[in-house]
Amino acid sequence: MSENRKQEQIEEIFSYYGNQKDKSTQEMVVALLKELQEVEGCISIGLRKRVVEVTGITENFLNCIIKMYPSIKESANVHEIIACTGERCGNKNGMEILRNIKKELGIGKDGMSRDGNFKLQTRNCLKQCRTAPNLMIDGKIYSGQELEDIKKLFQKI
Ligand code: FES
Repeated sequence: MSENRKQEQIEEIFSYYGNQKDKSTQEMVVALLKELQEVEGCISIGLRKRVVEVTGITENFLNCIIKMYPSIKESANVHEIIACTGERCGNKNGMEILRNIKKELGIGKDGMSRDGNFKLQTRNCLKQCRTAPNLMIDGKIYSGQELEDIKKLFQKI
């Protein structure tokens, strides 16, 4: 499945569950996590943050649920970086930012950083074109001037 298709499916899942009245119940959260896992293979740091946001549950409650269901797999503590390579971001230095990230973190062919702490992916649009250029790290968007000094940005993470 392409990365864009995956992202679309993830958004569909979040929008479906986000509209459920009982979205913060254990049953619903488990169902949501299982669907996300079917698409992504595991529950990443970024997905965990979104689950907390969308369902309104606390991180503690989410941790308890994940522990209770061994079939739900968390990704190792790897930070997920999604660089936007869409037209709007591309026109505003997006490609140079991507090159800087690769260089700074020593990203290999598998998308992993030299130290194994970061995984880099690209996407055609993060649906935040207004603030281009954009980058998503663990589910949070970083834009514009924040991306001028990549080294500094990664120190904050
Ligand atoms: S092109 Fe980058 S957010 Fe849309």
